[in-house]
Amino acid sequence: MLTGSSQLIWITGAGSGIGRATALELARLGHSVVVSGRRLEPLQDLVKDAQHFPGQISPLTLDVTEPQSVHDAFSTLCARWGVPDAAILCAGNHQPMPVDQFSLERCQALIDVNYLGMMRLVERLLPAFRSRGCGTMVLVASVAGYRGLPTAAAYGGSKAAVINAAEALRCELEGSDIDIKLVNPGFVRTPLTDRNEFKMPFLIEPEEAARSIVKGMQRPGFEIAFPWRFALIMKMLRLLPYGLYFRLIKRKTGL
Ligand SMILES: NC(=O)c1ccc[n+]([C@@H]2O[C@H](COP(=O)([O-])OP(=O)(O)OC[C@H]3O[C@@H](n4cnc5c(N)ncnc54)[C@H](OP(=O)(O)O)[C@@H]3O)[C@@H](O)[C@H]2O)c1
Repeated sequence: MLTGSSQLIWITGAGSGIGRATALELARLGHSVVVSGRRLEPLQDLVKDAQHFPGQISPLTLDVTEPQSVHDAFSTLCARWGVPDAAILCAGNHQPMPVDQFSLERCQALIDVNYLGMMRLVERLLPAFRSRGCGTMVLVASVAGYRGLPTAAAYGGSKAAVINAAEALRCELEGSDIDIKLVNPGFVRTPLTDRNEFKMPFLIEPEEAARSIVKGMQRPGFEIAFPWRFALIMKMLRLLPYGLYFRLIKRKTGL
């Protein structure tokens, strides 16, 4: 759990959007934040934007789809800054996949970054947390992983896998000092959703998402879902029988 005293926090996918805003919020609160992504430039911009904040931001490039890059980045992290108190695994991508553009390649690409990319990091973090005796792992999925949605067979599938993995890890680590948290955002205005051509319901800004994540990390619960009204609607959809669910989704999306 995030405490008031300064902690070392590693954020992947921090060059833009939710990860970037969360890094700034944590540095504003005085935490030391190591930020990762493939491109160095946005990470360096982030360092500049936080230069007057009480907490320091440091860049560390990483490609979560490359096992060697994950190995090198994690070794550098531990050698230069130490094992982080918390890791926010936010690196991800989204591509809609309408049924007439169904592509195994797209499924593989999204699974590789959103799910396997995250598991490559979990594989490093778990033993490090275990040998130190504590740590917080924050897995960023999506409300799109709750149930199948139109055009989201690839993206939703990758996020459903993350939700399931987080639940499984939490079951086994319950009662230990390794805290697993699951973040399920609704629509957040970021480069990832800027490509969406439809009107996004309950759209929020990344700063609001960041505040929700940080607040959630300061509390003991498992899931951090926001904005709460949209998350509640999406949760209620999970309870519907298939016939009703499919009819409702067709009526609301027209797809
Ligand atoms: N925005 C939303 O509405 C929304 C809703 C639900 C869930 N989410 C999830 O929230 C997370 C962040 O999304 P966002 O909206 O903030 O998107 P974003 O602005 O596009 O940020 C994603 C970040 O991930 C990094 N990244 C992508 N591929 C990577 C790789 N292979 N290795 C390392 N870093 C990589 C990108 O930086 P580089 O290109 O420099 O690597 C980028 O900074 C994602 O997991 C997304 O699925 C977003």
